[in-house]
Amino acid sequence: MGKSSKKSKGSEWKPDTWKSFEASQQPIWPNNDSLQKVLDELSALPPLVFAGEARKLTQQLAAVSQGKAFLLQAGDCAESFDTSADSIRDRLRVILQMAVILTYYTGVPVVKVGRIAGQFAKPRSSDTETVDGLELPSFRGHMVNDINFNEDSRAANPKRLLTAYNRAAATLNLLRAFTKGGFAALSKVHQWNREFVAASPAGQRYEILADEIDRAVSFMQACGIDGDKLSELSEVDFHTSHEALILGYEEALTRQDSLTGEWYDCSAHMLWIGERTRDLGGAHIEFLRGVNNPIGCKLGPDANAKDVLTLCETLNPEKIHGRLTLISRMGSETVSEKLPHILETVKEAGHPVVWVCDPMHGNTFSTENGHKTRHFDDILKEITGFFEAHSKVGTYPGGVHLELTGDDVTECLGGGAQLDADDLSKRYETMCDPRLNGSQSIDIAFRIAELLHKSQL
Ligand code: PEP
Ligand code: CO
Repeated sequence: MGKSSKKSKGSEWKPDTWKSFEASQQPIWPNNDSLQKVLDELSALPPLVFAGEARKLTQQLAAVSQGKAFLLQAGDCAESFDTSADSIRDRLRVILQMAVILTYYTGVPVVKVGRIAGQFAKPRSSDTETVDGLELPSFRGHMVNDINFNEDSRAANPKRLLTAYNRAAATLNLLRAFTKGGFAALSKVHQWNREFVAASPAGQRYEILADEIDRAVSFMQACGIDGDKLSELSEVDFHTSHEALILGYEEALTRQDSLTGEWYDCSAHMLWIGERTRDLGGAHIEFLRGVNNPIGCKLGPDANAKDVLTLCETLNPEKIHGRLTLISRMGSETVSEKLPHILETVKEAGHPVVWVCDPMHGNTFSTENGHKTRHFDDILKEITGFFEAHSKVGTYPGGVHLELTGDDVTECLGGGAQLDADDLSKRYETMCDPRLNGSQSIDIAFRIAELLHKSQL
């Protein structure tokens, strides 16, 4: 528990109280003055999101916690400062496709949250990496350093915090334009299907669904339902999220809402605490307990029911619906064994939680050629185990948390195209964890829709 013996629960909170707690996974910045200068600059810049938007997401997540909606949280493992506009558009497009699949098959509204516009910092298992005898700091995401393996690139550079802010602002601006400017209109369902996806079995299944939606929209128009009513089908709500890892950055973007006087971390709508930083006495829990955004916390295979309950009490003492999302990432072999008891304990205590399955991070392994990968079948198995655990306990499987890209990469094994270990080197582009490609993402969306539909019967 490091230097803190303080109890965070109930004690006074300020955006900087985290500083008296142990903050793990923080970079070693070369110079405190240059860091402070950047943080002062960030504190004076406009917020990236507004408190009202975060409150709206909390309301949508409240519907999820009550079993009336489903959360699709998805995007890159680590966003790059070099991401092109096309790549941002394509990631949004695949998420919209997945949401349409889920809604069409289950009749349940889908709350869409991207791992996007701020997912620039990564926790690492080891502080350093050694290649050919040279030991350098690990890559911690573009917010901190660069991935190239040389001393300059790997040095933590505080100016990157400002670039992260600017890249997040530009990405958010593009997302707002796409989601409110007609690109996300339901009349465009066919155009979201990219050629390489359309050629896959899942893509063809999607084409059939898109035909049906087209017919439904034409039918409504023919019945005279157009104008204002149909314009609701031309805009979507899309929210942003990232792991709140680098606490100086998050603090600098934390602002007091002029309407309510409450504090919001305005770097994204939703923030989550990672598996490596969920220490109950640690700085990340202390920081996030005080901001009023909807927040998430990962739960790995070692999470125990008692600690999860303390997490709920600390992060959501007032039991507000939609405030807390718990993201289980236990691995396909462990979820059925460990999750039910945790679900039962939280249910009995009456804590309203949005339960989400991250089937990615507990199922990562390396191939013989050294590619970090995940198998589509393991991903599906963990999601299936997650749904079964909820059905056993009588709780609601509220959503999924996925790492994906709209691009035609070869990073995860299996799926419709049956990618094998030899295929991985063709287009292995991730800076961190392996992501589902466009057609694997559509494929998994159909499987999740089937599971969700089954759970409704
Ligand atoms: C992540 O979401 O990229 C991540 C590092 O996950 P976890 O904290 O669950 O390991
Ligand atoms: Co990851």
